[in-house]
Amino acid sequence: MTHLTEGGLSSVVVGVGSRLPKRIVSNADLQKSLDTSDEWIVQRTGIRQRHVAGEDEPTSKLGLGAAQAALADAGLSPDDVDLVIVATSTPDHTFPSVATQIQAGLGMTHGAGFDLQAVCSGFVFAVATADKFLRSGSHRRALVVGAETFSRLVDWTDRSTCVLFGDGAGAIVLEAQSREQAQGRGVLTTHLRSDGRHREKLYVDGGPSTTRTTGVLRMAGREVFRHAVGMATDVAEDAFAATGTNAEDLDWFVPHQANRRIIEASAEKLGVAPSKVVLTVDLHANTSAASIPLALSVAKADGRIKRGDLVMIEAMGGGFTWGAALIRW
Ligand code: ACO
Repeated sequence: MTHLTEGGLSSVVVGVGSRLPKRIVSNADLQKSLDTSDEWIVQRTGIRQRHVAGEDEPTSKLGLGAAQAALADAGLSPDDVDLVIVATSTPDHTFPSVATQIQAGLGMTHGAGFDLQAVCSGFVFAVATADKFLRSGSHRRALVVGAETFSRLVDWTDRSTCVLFGDGAGAIVLEAQSREQAQGRGVLTTHLRSDGRHREKLYVDGGPSTTRTTGVLRMAGREVFRHAVGMATDVAEDAFAATGTNAEDLDWFVPHQANRRIIEASAEKLGVAPSKVVLTVDLHANTSAASIPLALSVAKADGRIKRGDLVMIEAMGGGFTWGAALIRW
């Protein structure tokens, strides 16, 4: 747990951006090759379409596009950034990291970059990590990217999982500012959790040190659903408690976009009004670590998220991992 009041610096969001693959696959498109229906998918998940990366759109390319868009939004150049953290479970290669590929794509030969893996909670974990680097004074500005190509991990013949996922990338720029400069803005608190006993409920059945293959995603959907709401709301409540705020103070609730029913049940349990919930699962499906920055990007671009707004991000994913962060935008 971190508090804005503990140090003299805060990590302030100064830019946000995203990049989606060109190709859109609707539920009707999936119906052509799979025993499924638009009605089943929409009713169970809220998903209407997903973007699917082409062969020329690896995770690093999507992440680079999102990073460039976030820098443009901030009015900054790669020279102004000294840390790149990429949350991903679908790197181009086992190594080197996607972060170093994005650094190279930006022409950055200074600073440091690394990947972080916490599956669907990856972006929240990456924000928490960047916040600690920035508030320690070791780095000045961080690009925090969530970038994924889950279409490469799913079994396209398994209708119970493949309809749920999509590809994309989103990014924010966090800047270390003095408290005088920040004036209450910044990452206010972060709360991270994990519990490895839940491995079998959501995992990929391959990897370099076991099968020497990438493997495919396996999920016990009902089991994941059963845990998701409780875990997500627990950390959100922790974030409220740590800052002396509550659901009514919130301007925007931007949860991981896995499933509309999980999101609505979480918002209801927390007492967040439906009008404050940012929903993009209909457009993007579940893009794992990319879903929150993609949703932030949409809500910033359409004018919903404004400077000074109180924004809650929260996620739950494989591991299980789960986490929440409260941000004064
Ligand atoms: N189209 C049509 N029918 C389907 C499909 C499909 N795509 N997929 C499964 N079905 C069928 C099943 O075969 C089953 O048929 P049966 O009753 O004849 O055996 C029936 O639908 C019900 O299947 P369930 O799996 O029990 O359906 P459920 O209502 O639980 O919904 C779902 C499945 C949507 C996966 C749900 O469990 C869920 O949302 N779980 C949360 C998991 C999640 O969102 N994971 C994302 C990754 S984790 C994360 O990001 C947090």
